[in-house]
Amino acid sequence: MSINYKFPSDFWWGSATSATQIEGAAHKGGKGENIWDHWYKTEPNRFFDNVGPESTSDFYHVYKEDIKTMKEIGHNTFRMSISWSRLIPSGRGKVNPEAVTFYNNVIDELLANGIEPFVNLFHFDMPLELQHEGGWESRAVVDAYTDYAKEAFRLFGDRVKKWFTFNEPIVPVEGGYLYDFHYPNVVDARRAAQVAYNTMIAHAKAVEAFRGFDIANGKIGIILNLTPSYPRSKNPADLRASRIADLFFNRSFLDPAVLGEYPEELIEILREHGQLPVTEKGDGALLKANTADILGVNYYQPRRVKAKEYLPNPYSPFMPDWFFDNYEMPGRKMNKYRGWEIYEKGIYDIMINLKENYGNIESFISENGMGVEGESRFIQDGQIQDDYRIEFIREHLKWLHKAIEEGCNAKGYHLWSFMDNWSWMNAYKNRYGFISVDIETKERTWKKSAHWIKEVSENNGF
Ligand code: NOJ
Repeated sequence: MSINYKFPSDFWWGSATSATQIEGAAHKGGKGENIWDHWYKTEPNRFFDNVGPESTSDFYHVYKEDIKTMKEIGHNTFRMSISWSRLIPSGRGKVNPEAVTFYNNVIDELLANGIEPFVNLFHFDMPLELQHEGGWESRAVVDAYTDYAKEAFRLFGDRVKKWFTFNEPIVPVEGGYLYDFHYPNVVDARRAAQVAYNTMIAHAKAVEAFRGFDIANGKIGIILNLTPSYPRSKNPADLRASRIADLFFNRSFLDPAVLGEYPEELIEILREHGQLPVTEKGDGALLKANTADILGVNYYQPRRVKAKEYLPNPYSPFMPDWFFDNYEMPGRKMNKYRGWEIYEKGIYDIMINLKENYGNIESFISENGMGVEGESRFIQDGQIQDDYRIEFIREHLKWLHKAIEEGCNAKGYHLWSFMDNWSWMNAYKNRYGFISVDIETKERTWKKSAHWIKEVSENNGF
């Protein structure tokens, strides 16, 4: 086979997951409740088919088999998260020994199979007691998070060398405080700004703590879902709306994480609308001193932004509109099985932006992927023939390859996800894995894309 797109020799091939979405055993092994367990208990009908987080792929029990498969399909890296409420059931205080054993086993098993674990500390799963204390609106919770992070570094830092403080911190802000798709279902832009800000303070404090541990060859960073903002026209109002979308959804995390400061224009807009978060003395210096070593980029789709007269959030008079779905544009390609736009070049635009404006920070694609509703209709000869996913990955990889050739510091590609898993309110509606999972029997079957990625990773290209 001739290789047209060869990747650098130590390229990271792998996939990403999160604890709540794959572990199962939500009420076992001494785990405490988190907001997902609670929300599902109180409002099960908000979840697709009423399926909650206790019914996931059951990684908690079958991690050994899954890791064996990861190795077989060519993974050399794998991203997982630690469930805060499993490790420290009340959010602060006593550590759960069963969780320590579980995460030790998973980490050891990965390493024994030549797979480097990338560990993320927070993937939307706030321990319930801390949410009831105010969640990310509370500085005391930020301190509890810092203690949890320290505990994780102490327990696993001898073997885990790539750490991430948060995955997609904008999502709990949008979901929990603006648009009502995460607990605590608040709709209030001022409180949302506080949550976003405190998250970045928590990030900086965890980075500061990490550096205190002096973990040999250790790196710490954050995983951001970057959505390139493209205006729908050259109309000045659309240009401005697009810039504002970029400020809110990308730069409000990217700038403090990588540059150690907030964009002036963002501060001005918040001030104008009375939405500046409460800060503490020393925050600026804390952010400046604790920027990320490494950045994970989750990329699914861009924003096509236009200014709008009526506003999606009544509390945010400046909020631009950014319909993901229902916008006709010549050549605009959609994932017809899920409704999101497919724009492969976005991955390149992100990388060039990181190179030009963010010091070419070491980065990797920490998530990219294609959700498909009703994927079992593609079964033939006992296997899901997901040629659409293969094409999706291949076309994104071509743009990533081009970015690397032009000097971008991108080190790897992780698909969302290794196997089909539970997705927040959508539960099992959209399937994303290389490996399909029967949610009743938990049986795993390779999709066609699993065979394909095995070949690609082994050849380090295609
Ligand atoms: C982003 C998130 O990190 C993950 O939790 C989610 O399931 C996937 N994208 C797919 O939407």
